[in-house]
Amino acid sequence: MVPMTYRTEFDRSIADPESFWGEAARSIDWFRKPTRVLDASNPPQYRWFPDATLNTCYNALDRHVIRGAAERTAIIYDSPVTGTKREISYAELLGEVGAFAGVLQQLGVEKGDRVVIYMPMIPEAVVAMLACARVGAVHSVVFGGFAPHELALRIDDAQPKVVVTASCGIEPNRTIAYKPLLDRALELAEHQVPAVVVKQRPQVTAELDPERDLDWNAAMHAGYQQPGACVEVDATDPLYILYTSGTTGKPKGIVRDNGGHAVAMAWSFPNIYDCGAGDVWWAASDVGWVVGHSYIVYAPLIAGATTVLYEGKPVGTPDPGAFWRVIAEHKVKALFTAPTALRAIKKEDAEAEHFAKYDTSSLQSLFLAGERLDPDTYDWASEKIGVPVVDNWWQTETGWAIAANLRGLEPMPIKAGSPTVPVPGFDVRVLDASGDEVPAGEEGSICVKLPLPPGCMTGVWGDEDRFVTGYLSAFDGYYLSGDGGRVDSDGYVYVMGRTDDVINVAGHRLSTGAMEEVLARHPAVAECAVIGVADTLKGQLPRGFVVLKDGADVDPDELAAELVAKVRAEIGAVAAFKEVVVVQGLPKTRSGKILRRTMRDIADGKETKVPGTIEDAGVLDVLRPVLRPQS
Ligand code: COA
Ligand code: AMP
Repeated sequence: MVPMTYRTEFDRSIADPESFWGEAARSIDWFRKPTRVLDASNPPQYRWFPDATLNTCYNALDRHVIRGAAERTAIIYDSPVTGTKREISYAELLGEVGAFAGVLQQLGVEKGDRVVIYMPMIPEAVVAMLACARVGAVHSVVFGGFAPHELALRIDDAQPKVVVTASCGIEPNRTIAYKPLLDRALELAEHQVPAVVVKQRPQVTAELDPERDLDWNAAMHAGYQQPGACVEVDATDPLYILYTSGTTGKPKGIVRDNGGHAVAMAWSFPNIYDCGAGDVWWAASDVGWVVGHSYIVYAPLIAGATTVLYEGKPVGTPDPGAFWRVIAEHKVKALFTAPTALRAIKKEDAEAEHFAKYDTSSLQSLFLAGERLDPDTYDWASEKIGVPVVDNWWQTETGWAIAANLRGLEPMPIKAGSPTVPVPGFDVRVLDASGDEVPAGEEGSICVKLPLPPGCMTGVWGDEDRFVTGYLSAFDGYYLSGDGGRVDSDGYVYVMGRTDDVINVAGHRLSTGAMEEVLARHPAVAECAVIGVADTLKGQLPRGFVVLKDGADVDPDELAAELVAKVRAEIGAVAAFKEVVVVQGLPKTRSGKILRRTMRDIADGKETKVPGTIEDAGVLDVLRPVLRPQS
C-alpha cells in the first residue's frame, strides 16, 4: 500500500506541476522571482522558470552567511590518504570561492564560458566548481580516473577558457601525477586552452609552463585582492556540463541549468534524504560523478548542511572500518554511497567487526545508488548496520532520483531489490517495444512521461539534436531512461539493468563502445566486442573478445596484454579492463549486428533464447565455453 502523503504529493506534482514546483521554488533566493514556472511551448523540450534569474553560488553560500550561519561548518574534508582533516566554515568557504571567482575573472572568464576541472577529492575542487557558478561560467568536472585521451575528448567538446587541476591524486596503492596527464591531454586536444591553474600538493610538485600555467596559491593572493561577486544568470542558463558514457565512444555532455537544478536540489535533500540545515551529511562518491555534483556539493550547501568531503576508499584506507570511523568522528546523520563500496567492505569484514569498534549512533539512514542494489548486499547491510538501507535510482541525465523511498516526505516499507516508488515529478511508465504500457509486474523499457521535473538535463552540449534523438524520440512524449525493469502492483519500481551497451563497473558508468574503439584500432584486430559480465564485487566487469585479421602473426597472450594496456592508457584505470580473449568468430545477426546481449546472458549464466536472426549458430556454440568457462 502506498502511503497517503506521498500519494497526494506525487499526484499533485503530475496533475499540476506548475503549482508544485512553483511552491518548491520559494526555497531558493532569486534575483528575479519566476512568474512562469514551466515553458511548455516547444515540446518535447521543456524549460523550467523561464523568466527567473538567480545565482547558484549565492544560494549555496552567501545567503547562509548573510542569515547568521557564517561560522557553521560547510565542508569537513577528511583525507585518510594524506592524513589530513580540515573543517571549513561557510564564511571561509565563501572567502575562498570569492577569491577564486576573482581569479577566473582575471583570466577573462565570463558568463557562459567553460572551465574544465580535473581534480582529486580536495576542497579546491569544490571551490573551483562554486567559483564557476559564481561568475556564471559553466564547469565541467572530469573524473580523475580518466586517461588523457578521454580528457582530451572532453576538452575539445567543452572548449574551456581555463582548466583547473592539482599536482596529484592519491590512490591507496600509488600517487598519480595529474599534471603530466593533463599536459598530454592538452597535446592531444585540438582546442588551445589559454590558462591552466594548478594546486600544488605536498606529495608531488607539478612542472608549470610559465606561459600558460598558474600556481593556485599565487593566483589566490591576487583573487583575494579582487574577489568575484555573484553574476546574475537566467534560470535556464547552464550551470554545468557533465560528460557521461553513451553507446558510442564519444561521451555525451549532459547540460544542467541553474534554476531547475537549484529547486530540485533544495526539494530533494529534505524530502528524499531527510536532511537539512546544520545536519552532517556524507556522500561518499567523487565530484567527478553526478552523485558528487548533486549531493557532495550542491544540495547540502544549498540547504545549509555540513558536507563531508572524503578522500579515501571504503577499504584499504586503512581498513574496512574507514566509513564507520568517519561516521563516528564527524557524527554523520546519513551516508550515501554505492552498493559496490558495501560489497568491498563485506568482502573484508563479513562479520562487521570493524563496524562494532565505532559509535555510529548518529547514523539514521544509509542511501545507496549508482547501480542495482542486489538483495544480498541489502540484507547484509540492513542486518549489520541496523539503520534503514535505502536504494535510489537515478542517472547523470536526471541529476537526482527518479525512484526513491522518500524518507523526509513519508518513509515507506522497503522491498529488497526495489528503489521504492517514483519521486514526485517523475511520471514513470514501463513501455513495450511498440510504446504501449505493459501491465504491472511485466518488464519493459522504463520511461518517464514528459515533462521531466526541474533539475534534469536540458540538452547535450554542442549537439542540439542529440537530446531529442537519443532520449526523446524512441517513444513520443516520453524520456527513454535506457534502463529496463518493471513496476509491481504496489507501484514499486524494479530496475534490472541497461538495455543498451552502457555498463556499470564499481558504480562507474562506462561505454563498451569506447573500449571496442580502442581494441579495433589495433592492426591485428579484424573485429571485436566488449560486454559487461556480472562480478560479485564490482557489479559488472568488461570482457573483450577479438577476432584476428587473416594472416595476423601475433601471440594471443601478448596481444591480450597489449590490448589491456591500451585500454588502461586511453580510457583509464577506472575501466578495470583486464580480460580479453582471442576467438575465431563473433555471433551475429544476418544483418551483421553482433549479438552482445546473447553473449552477456551466456556469460552471466542466464537462460537465453538465441535470436532466430542469428547468421551462424555454430559460431555461438564454439564461443560458449569461452564465454562461461566454469560451466
Ligand atoms: N584517479 C586515478 N585513478 C583512479 C581514481 C582516480 N580518482 N579512481 C580510481 N582509480 C583507479 C584505481 O586506482 C584502480 O587502479 P588499479 O587498476 O591500478 O588498481 C582503478 O582505477 C579502478 O578503481 P576502482 O573502481 O576504484 O576499483 P578498486 O578496485 O580500486 O576499488 C571499490 C573498488 C569498490 C572499493 C571502489 O570502486 C569504490 O569505492 N567504489 C565506489 C564507487 C562510487 O562511489 N561511485 C560513485 C557512484 S555513487
Ligand atoms: P550514472 O549516470 O553514472 O549515474 O549511471 C546511471 C545508471 O546507473 C542508470 O541508468 C542505471 O543503469 C544505474 N543505476 C543507478 N542507480 C541505480 C539503482 N539504484 N538501481 C539500479 N540501477 C542503477
